[in-house]
Amino acid sequence: MNQNTASTTDTAGLDTILSIRNLHTYFYTIMGVARALNGVSLDIPAGKVMGVVGESGCGKSVTALSAMRLVLPPGKIVKGEIILNRLQKEGDSFIVREEINITNLHPQGPEMRRIRGGEIAMIFQEPMTSLNPSYTVGNQIMEAILLHQEVDEAEARQRAINILRRVEMYNPDAVVDRYPHELSGGMRQRAMIAMGLSCTPSILVADEPTTALDVTTEAEILDLMRELQAELGMTIIFITHNLGVVAQMCDNVAVMYLGRVVEQATIDDIFYNPYHPYTKALLNSIPRIGTRTKKRLEPIKGVVPDPYSQITGCPFYPRCTSFMPGVCDKRVPALTSLGDEHTVRCFLHTEEVEADE
Ligand SMILES: Nc1ncnc2c1ncn2[C@@H]1O[C@H](COP(=O)(O)OP(=O)(O)OP(=O)(O)O)[C@@H](O)[C@H]1O
Ligand SMILES: [Mg+2]
Repeated sequence: MNQNTASTTDTAGLDTILSIRNLHTYFYTIMGVARALNGVSLDIPAGKVMGVVGESGCGKSVTALSAMRLVLPPGKIVKGEIILNRLQKEGDSFIVREEINITNLHPQGPEMRRIRGGEIAMIFQEPMTSLNPSYTVGNQIMEAILLHQEVDEAEARQRAINILRRVEMYNPDAVVDRYPHELSGGMRQRAMIAMGLSCTPSILVADEPTTALDVTTEAEILDLMRELQAELGMTIIFITHNLGVVAQMCDNVAVMYLGRVVEQATIDDIFYNPYHPYTKALLNSIPRIGTRTKKRLEPIKGVVPDPYSQITGCPFYPRCTSFMPGVCDKRVPALTSLGDEHTVRCFLHTEEVEADE
């Protein structure tokens, strides 16, 4: 057990632009209460790409939608906080200019509407559900520009064309007047990125932005996002279940399991020094280039439990190869700091129990 450096995390770093603290989001359905988020804690560093990974249903999209205040009834944020830090760069570091508790804002109120699209923008998992089929691509980008910036229609149209050019859209002067169904999958995804970037947000949330694309187009879009991120100094929250994409894109990674973050670390630590048995299992289930051993790929045994059932103890214990009877099945481990930028929620590495089980 690594007790020397362990301490329960409670403070975010100075460069944290978005801090999610103990977030619980539930869906009150006729089948019962789906506990989609069960205490998500996650600090997003400014100007970096933070990957969020985990199997289907672990709460990646609901975390993003909660931060955008786009969770619709019967869904509800029932507990926890999402803090947006408006930062100012001073030399190599940041100072917090203003701290906004997003959880206290009305989802449709003026402040949240300003933040959504203006400061935090999102590229959704499925472009055809988020691009409106009845409006041209240009109109949809212009709508975002007109909502957040003091410009007239002609200027908004010009900015829409410029941003389409910026995302390397082929023939932007023509595409601006096209409808989404007239575009290929890759072009739609570029249009989505253009929409997301149209108001130069400080945070871009990209939810599986390339899953529907072929590998060549995926590689182009990923390159483009990385390039734009470096150029604009943006923070990206990159949601994916593809660890190969994480390796290519991200500086830091949060691994989620059943509505909680179970490990957060730098990309190198996640790949070369993972602590949580779930992270290790995820890594063992994918092929890795550059590893010399001829180890067989091992799928993670069992399935993710449904969010309607409540498991006593660590939710991963029924599938965990390091399960300690009498420990893991009794209490929930606390998310614990194991040194620089590395936190983990596992009794192999902490004795601390979640205060808020
Ligand atoms: N509108 C809803 N009503 C009921 N349950 C919901 C609703 N939306 C999400 N959930 C549940 O919340 C849990 C988390 O869902 P979420 O969409 O965040 O998963 P995910 O990690 O994004 O998965 P995927 O990789 O498949 O996109 C799931 O169990 C899902 O069934
Ligand atoms: Mg999702």
